Amino acid sequence: MTDHLTIVDHPLVQHKLSLMREKQTSTAVFRQLLREISLLLAYEVTRELPMTTKSIDTPLCEMDAPVIAGRKLALISILRAGNGLLDGMLELIPSARVGFVGLYRDEETLQPVEYYFKVPDQLGKRLVIAVDPMLATGNSSAAAIDRLKQAGATNIRFLCLLAAPEGVARMKEAHPDVPIITAALDDHLNEKGYIVPGLGDAGDRMFGTK
Ligand code: URA
Repeated sequence: MTDHLTIVDHPLVQHKLSLMREKQTSTAVFRQLLREISLLLAYEVTRELPMTTKSIDTPLCEMDAPVIAGRKLALISILRAGNGLLDGMLELIPSARVGFVGLYRDEETLQPVEYYFKVPDQLGKRLVIAVDPMLATGNSSAAAIDRLKQAGATNIRFLCLLAAPEGVARMKEAHPDVPIITAALDDHLNEKGYIVPGLGDAGDRMFGTK
């Protein structure tokens, strides 16, 4: 994957995303749609995985069959909203290893502060896919990627549902080596840091909190 930003403009993804954006959409339906979209995004983000072959026996003959090469992928959920994307992705890639990065924003310094970090071993030998539905300012995403690199990750992709131009620019500046895959690039961030037109607070909408 060479482009820094990939927008997955598949009709199913776009249709489901429009339903998620609607403010009347219930928590249960929102969660279900997120699960469905994450399957489609997982398909896209793994499109260029390196392949090898292994010799198998079909009922008819022996063949060299294509299989994914290398170690199991690492899926890293950026808490808490990342868990909504993670669930669907694990359905498609059940053998993936899973990690979590928890960050909150210090109200005074406005800088991300880590409160949880647990990731699979040998990150440097795996494709690492960091997931967070909303790439808004990009500050916490860039900090999460910093931490993954400190832990040894070298081959990282960032998967989100919606991105703001500000977040894409921030990530490109901080981590030009990390491709971003998203379902849509929205217009801008408002003064409170929400993506516009967006879908509101992804965590609140998927967990039914306020
Ligand atoms: N996080 C969200 O959940 N929504 C936004 O619009 C921005 C950041």
